[in-house]
Amino acid sequence: MSIEELTPDADTPGRVFDVERVLAGLTLEEKASLLSGQDFWTTQPVARDGAAGSAAVPSVMVTDGPHGLRKQADSPDHLGLGNSVPATCFPTAVTLGSTWDPALVRRVGEALGRETRANDVAVLLGPGINIKRSPLNGRNFEYLSEDPVIAGELGAALVAGVQSQGVGTSLKHFAANNQEADRMRVSADVDERTLREIYLAGFERVVKRAQPWTVMCSYNKINDVYASQNHWLLTEVLRDEWGFEGLVMSDWGAVRDRVAGVAAGLDLEMPASGGRTDAEVVAAVREGHLDEALVDVAARRVLHLVARSLPALDAPGTYDADAHHALAREAAAAGTVLLKNAAVPTGTTAGTPLLPLAAGDGVAVVGELARTPRYQGAGSSQVNPTRLDDALTALRAATGAEVPFAAGYTVDGADLGSGTDEAALVAEAVEVARTAGTVLVFLGLPASYESEGFDRAHMDLPAGQVALLEAVAAVNERVVVVLANGSAVSVAPWQHLAPAVVEGWLGGQAGGSGVVDVLLGAVNPAGRLAETLPLRLADNPSYGNFPGELGHVRYGEGVLVGYRWYDARQAEVAYPFGHGLSYTTFAYDGVAAEVLGSGAHAADDAPAVRVRVTVTNTGERAGAEVVQVYVGDPAAQVFRPERELKAFAKVELAPGEARELTLDLTARDLAYWHPVLRRWVVEGGEFVVSVGASSRDLRGSATVVVDGDDVRLPLAELSTVAEAMDHPVVGPRIDALVHGGAVADDMLGMIGDMPLAVVADFGLAGFTRTDLATLLSAANA
Ligand code: BGC
Repeated sequence: MSIEELTPDADTPGRVFDVERVLAGLTLEEKASLLSGQDFWTTQPVARDGAAGSAAVPSVMVTDGPHGLRKQADSPDHLGLGNSVPATCFPTAVTLGSTWDPALVRRVGEALGRETRANDVAVLLGPGINIKRSPLNGRNFEYLSEDPVIAGELGAALVAGVQSQGVGTSLKHFAANNQEADRMRVSADVDERTLREIYLAGFERVVKRAQPWTVMCSYNKINDVYASQNHWLLTEVLRDEWGFEGLVMSDWGAVRDRVAGVAAGLDLEMPASGGRTDAEVVAAVREGHLDEALVDVAARRVLHLVARSLPALDAPGTYDADAHHALAREAAAAGTVLLKNAAVPTGTTAGTPLLPLAAGDGVAVVGELARTPRYQGAGSSQVNPTRLDDALTALRAATGAEVPFAAGYTVDGADLGSGTDEAALVAEAVEVARTAGTVLVFLGLPASYESEGFDRAHMDLPAGQVALLEAVAAVNERVVVVLANGSAVSVAPWQHLAPAVVEGWLGGQAGGSGVVDVLLGAVNPAGRLAETLPLRLADNPSYGNFPGELGHVRYGEGVLVGYRWYDARQAEVAYPFGHGLSYTTFAYDGVAAEVLGSGAHAADDAPAVRVRVTVTNTGERAGAEVVQVYVGDPAAQVFRPERELKAFAKVELAPGEARELTLDLTARDLAYWHPVLRRWVVEGGEFVVSVGASSRDLRGSATVVVDGDDVRLPLAELSTVAEAMDHPVVGPRIDALVHGGAVADDMLGMIGDMPLAVVADFGLAGFTRTDLATLLSAANA
């Protein structure tokens, strides 16, 4: 809603104001004061005490966080230390990312928006959509995917959902904040093509689709320039290119040079600076270092933010905590990924996969995490949940059975009483497992392993948990491992011990009941990995370049992030991107692709290629399949990933039901960022469109020929003979020169890479500098 659309509310006269009129009535000091927070969570008000001609500007509150509201009633902090009001703790982003379900994520966003509004908060500080570059990033649980299409699609859905309730979001952390180590200083050294194709692409999609009210800049530098004072990032890319209309705020404490920030496009510094940086802004204007017009621009954006917040703040409404808990449960189940589900020769359901659990399976549960769930990560996103489901209670309630339980290990903060030692816990678990029909072993990362503020040291589960699994598997082969972790863990060392493995991630306050819904088959699993599970940490593309050293982290793997890297190397992985099993099976038929239009002018969002596929549920249960469309551009002159996700659709199918799906690709979906031309280009030619159930489970492909942009570079003195020969205008002349007998055939290979200027200076084939000048003007005319 724009400020012009705001109409005065009869019940709250004076709460609606005209931004331009207010701005015109502010002093420089007042405008500068608007550019930093009043305190930890609120913007600065401007008082007017009834003076005619100008209204007071109220202060509005912003609050974390991505998967639930963290509104602090007292003692504020951004580390998740202090208390906050109860709010629904929805599944964390890692879980939401694994749903591959924009419609569901939008509903979660709507619920988050209702809670934000009901709590008198103007802006929810999320979603976080940074790319998971390394499994070790301590904050991966707050991010959606290693792929920008997933991050962008789901991020846009969340933003649209929240903002449909009349409150704002803050898309974060912009940009290239892919680690916690040294996050407040490190320079992410990334080439522009990689930034554009991987690290900015998700932000671009969300901005263009959903116009978040605000964007939060990150702490780190990008190529040596702090995000908070990066004009290229905050103004040229975000606003001028993408058309962002909202406000940019800093991450908490991310400002190093406030005056440079104002000039770069950082509107609001958070939290309060105690007036210090406001004074710097005023002084810079007075001393002629900063144009007051730039202060006006930022102040205007703050005023717009306040103005657009008022209608919701004036009518906060309520929300239904039970309904939100139920939605959190639905989302937790939807984001649960069934990694593996094999049959074993013994037991009541011998020969059929272990899951879903069958009545009479005689289930026992091992693992403290079943009783003391780890359901969210630590730091600024930590929510004080309205309720908390644990899997053990949920399982007992759903089955009506006693369900024997043994803790097996301790987790951080779980007090099992003194006198319990590890060996005794394992021995107790072994006894419980020995007589069980099927044993569910809950494993995962303790809170001390991953958090905002630091990265993980390795990808492994605690050694004690693996030892427990070994001991349990030695007495019972019917083992189902259920995982709780915020980012990829290594499964290779132990997964041979468990015929079935369920990745429950950090599922929020209803994660316990949500995962039980999947275990029992009340929900047919339809979660898919939004990040590759590598075999070893050393296989990860960032290995050796993470988290960097001496203040720099080099994104040396370029665009080969996540599956793009593993696929390029045909490297074995534990589970590929996009993977996830169901209790039913799906067949893919009739994969076809048809060219709808030209690929030229990639900025154009018109569909360029239409992909069709028919998917059939070939099993006996209703279920949802996630159909994934990957594109490869094998003939491009730049190195491109083998295949990249460009479209996906989640489709619910009854047993036996078949449906034809149509997925459109735009020119941009075929494009790459040309590093020299510095724009998106579609290089005309063949594109391979593959459709499948993961990046490694492709069920069909089609090749299309699309015409594209002119990607030739202007001919210059240092262009090579080969480049000149390719040129449509002067190519024949060079060809005639080279092939006219002047250059011996065996010299042709050598001369191909020779710059034209050198050919002229050597006088090869009688070619002179004058000839070169004539040639260049003909070529570039
Ligand atoms: C985090 C942000 C968060 C802010 C406010 C920072 O430390 O990086 O994600 O929104 O604190 O709590």
